[in-house]
This record gives sequence, structure tokens and C-alpha cells, in this order.
Amino acid sequence: MDTLEVIYSEFLSHTNNCNLLTLVGLVTTILCLITLIRVLVWTPFKLYFLAQVLPGVDLKKLGKWAVITGATGGIGKGYCKVLAEKGMNIVLISRSSEKLAKVAEEIREAYGVVVRTLTADFHSTDIYERIEEELRELDVGVLVNNVGTSNVTATFLKTTNILQTTTDILHVNCVSMTNMCAIVLPQMLHKDKGVIINISSIGRIGFLGAPVYSSSKSYVSKLSECLQRTYRNSGKHQNQENKKSFSFSICIKFKV
Ligand SMILES: NC(=O)c1ccc[n+]([C@@H]2O[C@H](COP(=O)([O-])OP(=O)(O)OC[C@H]3O[C@@H](n4cnc5c(N)ncnc54)[C@H](OP(=O)(O)O)[C@@H]3O)[C@@H](O)[C@H]2O)c1
Repeated sequence: MDTLEVIYSEFLSHTNNCNLLTLVGLVTTILCLITLIRVLVWTPFKLYFLAQVLPGVDLKKLGKWAVITGATGGIGKGYCKVLAEKGMNIVLISRSSEKLAKVAEEIREAYGVVVRTLTADFHSTDIYERIEEELRELDVGVLVNNVGTSNVTATFLKTTNILQTTTDILHVNCVSMTNMCAIVLPQMLHKDKGVIINISSIGRIGFLGAPVYSSSKSYVSKLSECLQRTYRNSGKHQNQENKKSFSFSICIKFKV
């Protein structure tokens, strides 16, 4: 091979590498652009525009009652108001009975729906039999697993009272939503309808300053996805004839 041939073949292999790198760069840029458009344009458009103009689901058709955990403040109280405004009766679950009574009265007066309260501290694990008992006779159409707690510390081992704190976070954030789904899901499957909203967090991507909280929210998202995949097409009465009209669904990731 003479020198010219060597230079030519070097040039060709270099060009091929360049082409490959250009292609990888192009595909990566396109994927990033799609993600950006989805997050910055499509999601807000869907949430704040489409949701307003499209006919929504008539939640009352899913069941007469909505159950909300962590219902006396923040996002949970917001859910109670929105669901009551849509005509659903509400079960409020939280720790403080005074706050529960106050919020229950507020909702009854404002929306004229029936409101029940249930005092329960999700730090404990011996509350679920009582909750199951209280909900057994109710026609639950919507469950909002909202209750959540967090601690923000510099690093995992700097968590104050680490054993208690981490156990509390896992009980309130993970055990609560898991057990509440286990309590309500059989009834929803039996009726072939219902919606479960599990409140996760952007923290699920992993904040180093709140590792246990972030991981617990990742659990919330993951369990929600698994439940959705397992049950979205199932139901006690499901068969070939009514498959298309089956209306049970789980609303999974609610990103706050
Ligand atoms: N706020 C945010 O910026 C944000 C961001 C991302 C995700 N989230 C998630 O959204 C959800 C709600 O957040 P939030 O900020 O609205 O909550 P919040 O204001 O701190 O919570 C208020 C409600 O939770 C109840 N609660 C707290 N600990 C409880 C326990 N151990 N047992 C029973 N009830 C308990 C409180 O009732 P009592 O006062 O009666 O105990 C109150 O009704 C959480 O899951 C949170 O992780 C919030």
C-alpha cells in the first residue's frame, strides 16, 4: 500500500467515526428536545388547558365516597374541597381530631355533602383494621393517598434520631399508601371502577439531602406503576363482553 492509499483509508475511517458521532449527537439532541417539550409544553398544556376544556370523568359514577389521607391541611385539604365540589361525600383521615372536626364542618357548610372523619396516626401500624372496618360499608370511588412526611438533613447519617425518624417516614409515606390500597382496591375491583391517586414527589429522583424521603417517594411511584399494570385491565366482572366498558383505573403519578 503506498502512502496515498494509507492516507485515504485513514481519512475514510475518520469520516466514519465522525458520522457515527454526529448521529449519536443528533439522536441525543432530539431525545433531549422531546423531553423538554413534553415537560415544558405538553404537560402544562394537558394539565392547565386540556383538562379544563375536555369533559371530565363524572367522579360520582365511580362511587359515592372519596377517602383522603392527611386531609386537614395542604394538598390533602385541597383534594377534599375539589372532590366535595364535584358532589362526592368525603372521609377525612388525619391525626388531630380538632382539626378534623373543623375541616369537616367547613366542607359540609361549603359544599353540602356528607363528611365523615377518622382519627388515625400513620406512624402506627395498628390503625389499619379500624380503617378497614370504617370503610367496609362505604361505596368508595376515589382514594387519595396524600399523607406524607419528610426530614431534610445534610446526609443520611446526620439524620437526627435516625432509627425513629427513618421508620416514621417509611410508615407514613410507604406503609400507609400500600395498606390503604390493599384496603380499598378489592372493593374497587369488585365494582369494576374507582380511582386511586398516590401523591409522589419530584423528590423521587433522589435528593441527597433527603435520601429516605426521596426513596420513599420513589417507592410510591413504583408501587403505583406496578398496581396500574397489574389491575388496570382486571376486575371481578371482567370478561370478553364487558372488557371495553371496564372503568377501573388507577391514577398513578401525581407530580407535585
Ligand atoms: N408541599 C409540597 O411542596 C410537596 C411537594 C412534593 C410532594 N408533596 C407531598 O404531598 C403530600 C402532602 O403534602 P403537604 O405539604 O400538603 O402536607 P402537610 O401540609 O405537611 O400535611 C398535612 C396533612 O397531613 C396530616 N398528617 C401529617 N402526618 C400525619 C400522620 N402521621 N398521620 C396522619 N396524618 C398526618 C396532617 O394532619 P394533622 O395535622 O392532623 O396531623 C395534615 O392533614 C405529601 O405526601 C408530600 O410528600 C408535597
